[in-house]
Amino acid sequence: MTYAQDTRPLLNRRLAEFGTTIFAEMSALAVRTGAVNLGQGFPDTDGPESVREAAVRALRDGHGNQYPPGPGVPELREAVAEHQQRFYGRTVDPDTEVLVTAGATEAIAASLLALVEPGDEVIALEPYYDSYAAAVAMAGGTRVPVTLRPAEEPDGTRRFRLDLDELRDAVTDRTRLILLNTPHNPTGTVLTREELAAVAELCVERDLLAVTDEVYEHLVFEGEHLPLASFPGMRERTVTIGSAGKTFSFTGWKVGWVTGTAPLVAAVRSAKQYLTFVSAGPFQYAVAEALRLPDSHFDGLREDHRAKRDLLTRGLADAGFGVFRTAGTYFVTADIRPLGAEDGTAFCLSLPERCGVVAVPTQVFYDHEREGAPFVRFAFCKRDEVLRDAVGRLKSGLS
Ligand SMILES: Cc1ncc(COP(=O)(O)O)c(C=O)c1O
Repeated sequence: MTYAQDTRPLLNRRLAEFGTTIFAEMSALAVRTGAVNLGQGFPDTDGPESVREAAVRALRDGHGNQYPPGPGVPELREAVAEHQQRFYGRTVDPDTEVLVTAGATEAIAASLLALVEPGDEVIALEPYYDSYAAAVAMAGGTRVPVTLRPAEEPDGTRRFRLDLDELRDAVTDRTRLILLNTPHNPTGTVLTREELAAVAELCVERDLLAVTDEVYEHLVFEGEHLPLASFPGMRERTVTIGSAGKTFSFTGWKVGWVTGTAPLVAAVRSAKQYLTFVSAGPFQYAVAEALRLPDSHFDGLREDHRAKRDLLTRGLADAGFGVFRTAGTYFVTADIRPLGAEDGTAFCLSLPERCGVVAVPTQVFYDHEREGAPFVRFAFCKRDEVLRDAVGRLKSGLS
């Protein structure tokens, strides 16, 4: 006998709108068609050998093979605090102001579950990383998108820009927090000092919390990464999220962290302890070593990815796309209208057959789907020969 799904669906109402993620769908399409997958943002080369060896050593030496402490192993919490000091001059207490999580994804979910009551509004920049909407829904909150819009910069390039008036207008008496992401996935925008200062002023003026997803902090090619928590009045109201996945090219390890004041971190920990309780132990020791790598690692990662960004940006432009300037992240957003297309979803569904390349329609990251209809996202965190192959396929397939 089967369960009578027509009387009551299995998936609860809060999550009903979130089926499988677009990444699973597009990656399956890539496998089925043998296409080059520039859809999902994971590197096809592993991170530093020394960090991998540190994980093996931890496993062998019995470090972290049993439940590590709930807040994370002290070695990693200290390394996270040192990293904040080293790169941003922020002083963070490793004992009370750091929490290790199962990737940034858990940090985002735990932060929202901890800080949001049903009925609270959460402002997020649209298009947004796909877990945000689901995490707000799981917390019973209401998401309020503020759309990043393409704009021309003084140097003639195009980038997605935050409209500060629109952000201000989105705040109501029910707004609890702003969920910010910079460097921004999928648009590749890095919020400027002026934009962040305005966000900070608004948070202070309206007494809002902020949760900032900074997983691409070391992948900034233009401008600089500025943590929102370092702006006046923001330390006491900001939860800052980081992850080893992108900074060390080990996305499968799922080690992330939260920093914030002791009361904020304690609140997030309350939610986290009933999600995963702790994250994988041996990897925490390895990530502690990784965070202490010399500057050459962080500079090398950035310069490597800058070259990849340039390769893909040029290739997409040569293939006929309109291309936005990527200031940070793993991604280039392209406009399909110069190719005579309008609907990114239809375009991406046909691209594997047509060109043997997979991309993601940016539309799926919007509530206002029409705003994102003509945009598609390509990941460049791949080997150069893979990018060259993809660009060649696009050029011949679209001509
Ligand atoms: C903006 C953003 N936040 C969070 C994550 C997830 O990070 P993690 O793998 O550490 O959970 C990603 C991964 O693609 C991302 O792009």
